[in-house]
Amino acid sequence: MDRLVVNGGARLEGRLTASGSKNAVLPLMAAALLTDEPVVLHRVPALRDVTTMGLILKQLGVELQAEDGTLVLQAASTESLRDEPREASYDLVSTMRASVCVLGPLVARVGQARVSLPGGCVLGVRPVDMHMKGLNALGARIEVDGGYLVSDVGRRLQGSRLFLGSTFGSSVLATANVLMAATLAEGTTRITSAAMEPEIVQLVTLLQSMGARITGIGGPELLVEGVERLSGTEMTTQGDRIEAGTFLIGAAMTRGDVTIDGVDPSHLAAVTDTLGQAGAEVTCGDDWIRVQADRRLESTDVTTLPYPGFPTDLQAQHMTAMAVARGLSVITERIFPDRFMHVAELLRLGADIRKEGNQAIVSGCERLSGAPVMASDLRASAALVLAGLVAEGQTEVRRVYHIDRGYERIDARMAALGAEIRREKQPHLDPQRPDW
Ligand code: UD1
Repeated sequence: MDRLVVNGGARLEGRLTASGSKNAVLPLMAAALLTDEPVVLHRVPALRDVTTMGLILKQLGVELQAEDGTLVLQAASTESLRDEPREASYDLVSTMRASVCVLGPLVARVGQARVSLPGGCVLGVRPVDMHMKGLNALGARIEVDGGYLVSDVGRRLQGSRLFLGSTFGSSVLATANVLMAATLAEGTTRITSAAMEPEIVQLVTLLQSMGARITGIGGPELLVEGVERLSGTEMTTQGDRIEAGTFLIGAAMTRGDVTIDGVDPSHLAAVTDTLGQAGAEVTCGDDWIRVQADRRLESTDVTTLPYPGFPTDLQAQHMTAMAVARGLSVITERIFPDRFMHVAELLRLGADIRKEGNQAIVSGCERLSGAPVMASDLRASAALVLAGLVAEGQTEVRRVYHIDRGYERIDARMAALGAEIRREKQPHLDPQRPDW
């Protein structure tokens, strides 16, 4: 198992191009199930989650070819998918919740599906009730059987009016799932309280280029007129706003100067606005963002919200910045109320954070001190790497496999910006050959 070893004190400085967006590319890959023609995706990041989605699609009869960041996906014919039913297995689905969004395209195209229930994760229970509600409104008749979501409707889905909101706002992947299913349904579907994240906008664009008839792009209400078939297409994945945001927060907290190219500044407006309030200088062009800071950041409150609000996927990174800022800040988590696993690890580095319900009250301290810490999930591990940059001495971030799910070569990319960081194999105890 790998670990990242970070020596604190360096400032991040330089220029990087954002990787393709993980959260955008996963539903784009699932959309390949909607047609038997090739779907070609460019700027596909080399990430573990992308590999997992590829393996799931392979289980479902999709042929894949990857070369230099381009992925060609071609699903089997509808007849062969009907004659030879396949399933998305627990082994793969349980490692990545996004895989549940193969369900909608499968039911829509084949009239049957068997997809493992993903189960919980460290962010909390994370149910799939909204996915089921939406797909069932289209007539998918999904049931839970032996830990699997099963549908055997055997005919075309029917357009419908449905509401996809909840107390947390809208669900990104439920919107993706239902939207994909609706493209092949008979008649019109009106999705109210649809997620408005840029990843949904990119999915709508891909579906439109495949021949889907969708209006309302980027808004809370999507109108889909079902068509009988969709065709292949080609698209370049947008820049990863969460990866970019992580590096920009890192620049601000290390009093650095970083420019990220290949990302749409409007996708990160809530984050750059917060960095500006905290005292960093932010400049943007059409597809780049530069963050500079020459002094300690000021405390800044944040509440995570659906897009265009502050993203929950950058909450842990912001908390790390606030842990060394001047003053007291309150961070409120409105999307995943239990997403605070990183707090205990930041405390090990000497941060002063009190958690109350879905809020963390952070009292900024002058400096953190390096220590071994454990990554609990993808974004929390990125936050711990950022903490290592400003901690005195050495910080070891263990269980780095989490970070490889969503950040492409984070060690090499951070090092290119001046961070002192290296990847090491973590020695493991072999009970067959105890080394005492
Ligand atoms: C996506 C992102 C994830 C991000 C999250 C919120 C991908 C691959 N993942 O996850 O990185 O943190 O959006 O921006 O794009 N909920 C229900 N029932 C459901 C579905 C969701 O109650 O059926 C709840 C969730 O528990 C959560 C809230 O709705 O509290 C929002 O979650 P959701 O938008 O669905 O997150 P994902 O789409 O899974």
